[in-house]
Amino acid sequence: MSNKKATYLVVGGGIAGVTCVETLSILHPEEKLVIITASSLVKNVSNVSFYAKTIVKFDVQDTEASSLLKIHPNLEIIYDSLKYLDTKNKLATTEEGVIIKYDVICICTGGIPKLISDSNKCQRILGIRDTESVKEFQDKLKNGRKMLIVGNGGIASEIVHATRGIQKVWVVKDDYISATFVDPGAAEFFQESFRSKSKVQKESTVLRRHIFTEEDTVVSINKNLKSAALGPDWYRKLENIRNEGGDLELEIVYKVEVESVVETENKDYALDVKLTNGRIIECDFVISATGVEPAVNFTWDQVPNRGADGGLAVNEFQETSVKDVFAAGDVASASWQHAAHWFQLRLWTQARQMAGMAAKAMHARMTNEDVLQDFCFELFTHCTSLFGYRVVLLGKYNGQGLGRDYEILLRTTPNLEYIKFVLQNGRLQGVILIGETDLEEMCENLILDQIDLTPFGDDILNPDIDIDDYFD
Ligand SMILES: Cc1cc2nc3c(=O)[nH]c(=O)nc-3n(C[C@H](O)[C@H](O)[C@H](O)COP(=O)(O)OP(=O)(O)OC[C@H]3O[C@@H](n4cnc5c(N)ncnc54)[C@H](O)[C@@H]3O)c2cc1C
Ligand SMILES: *[C@@H]1O[C@H](CO)[C@@H](O)[C@H](O)[C@H]1NC(C)=O
Ligand SMILES: *[C@@H]1O[C@H](CO)[C@@H](O)[C@H](O)[C@H]1NC(C)=O
Ligand SMILES: *[C@@H]1O[C@H](CO)[C@@H](O)[C@H](O)[C@H]1NC(C)=O
Repeated sequence: MSNKKATYLVVGGGIAGVTCVETLSILHPEEKLVIITASSLVKNVSNVSFYAKTIVKFDVQDTEASSLLKIHPNLEIIYDSLKYLDTKNKLATTEEGVIIKYDVICICTGGIPKLISDSNKCQRILGIRDTESVKEFQDKLKNGRKMLIVGNGGIASEIVHATRGIQKVWVVKDDYISATFVDPGAAEFFQESFRSKSKVQKESTVLRRHIFTEEDTVVSINKNLKSAALGPDWYRKLENIRNEGGDLELEIVYKVEVESVVETENKDYALDVKLTNGRIIECDFVISATGVEPAVNFTWDQVPNRGADGGLAVNEFQETSVKDVFAAGDVASASWQHAAHWFQLRLWTQARQMAGMAAKAMHARMTNEDVLQDFCFELFTHCTSLFGYRVVLLGKYNGQGLGRDYEILLRTTPNLEYIKFVLQNGRLQGVILIGETDLEEMCENLILDQIDLTPFGDDILNPDIDIDDYFD
């Protein structure tokens, strides 16, 4: 058993933990910092580029934890896992019995994909939760004939959209389909771009406006997100499609969950999946796209408050309800009063932003300074690339929480770009930008400043008019 002392203690070597270390190495390099990481590989953020003030794109890679020593002169790495936290005496005990006395601590233990039960041993149940991994997994499915998809988020929708030539059964626990990540219109754009990949074509731009009002009789496909999608029936087009063999390509089963998965031998399909309605579905694979659960696998003398999603509730400075215990990344539950155009989504961007904020607040605590919440929490942003296109999501890009009274402006140019504006009271609330649209900065300003766009009408998205000119 050994005892150590550190001003700052960081637990976990994901994006959040590494960003916290990096930020502290800039703010307070002379102070001793210890990171506890269960894995010798940590995440490295590189190729950081700013599309606008709050819109940052970067790449993520695994790297040896020891590379962190280069950036922080007073860093010590402990390859171990946190077992017990005594927050009163500020002592952290690891699995192997190392005890670290700290002044402030940041918990960055991330989340674990929520897999459906008894899936740990079965190789035919794949956990997946972000669109970027969809393509990878498509390769794995080359030999499959029939798969079952569990989950009702954007990832599940994306998989359903992105896969062809395999029979699909989509099991949804609600009585509606959601599209939290990439909306159906965008998915259609991607699909379109697959079909015409080889043909180099640039058809004329389509401009569409749909107004959703209280009187709208259109039934929402998603009761929470309301009608920010293109229409209620997009997925019906997918249903009842038959493949060459005459089998249904997609079947959606509503209001049902998976009860058990049994591997079978000497049967046509490798798995028997039993649903809660008693039905048994045979298939080759199960795709579990049901999100992550915050990972707190250590014990405490006093457990901090939890957020509604089970994460450690943190305030705007990333501090938990227990003083000097901070948390960032997937493990944290953003429990402050959110800005109008920000919401939590467990992604790299937010892990990085939260950890940067935590480091600043921890430093402020040690130096008795005041700190303000970082500007990045004013606007939800996510940059990624999908099927070779740049994808930027801003604000309430799917009409999240906007009620029923908003409108959507859409411009798509096949194989080139897809632009969706979500407007309420003539003001921009959210945006989806696919392709090299060059509109990021303008959209950021329009959302943050809530500029009244009514005078511009549909010209806002008229390709023949340079919108930027309006605001110069
Ligand atoms: C399959 C998949 C694909 C994804 N793809 C994307 C994507 O393309 N884009 C995107 O933006 N987001 C993506 N995400 C989400 C993204 O990975 C997370 O939001 C982000 O990594 C969270 O970072 P984190 O540092 O909070 O946690 P993690 O990255 O989960 O890191 C937590 C670390 O803490 C360690 N740890 C846990 N408990 C202990 C303990 N007791 N002691 C010591 N160490 C501990 C873990 O081993 C782990 O290394 C994806 C997630 C999954 C599961
Ligand atoms: C907690 O999670 C870490 C990282 O996944 C792991 O190494 C460690 O063994 C886990 N501890 C317990 C008690 O399960
Ligand atoms: C960073 O960008 C370069 C050049 O585009 C690319 O080759 C490299 O793979 C990127 N790094 C990561 C980690 O993706
Ligand atoms: C992360 O990767 C970049 C580019 O490969 C490198 O310059 C940087 O030193 C790395 N950072 C760490 C902490 O390893």
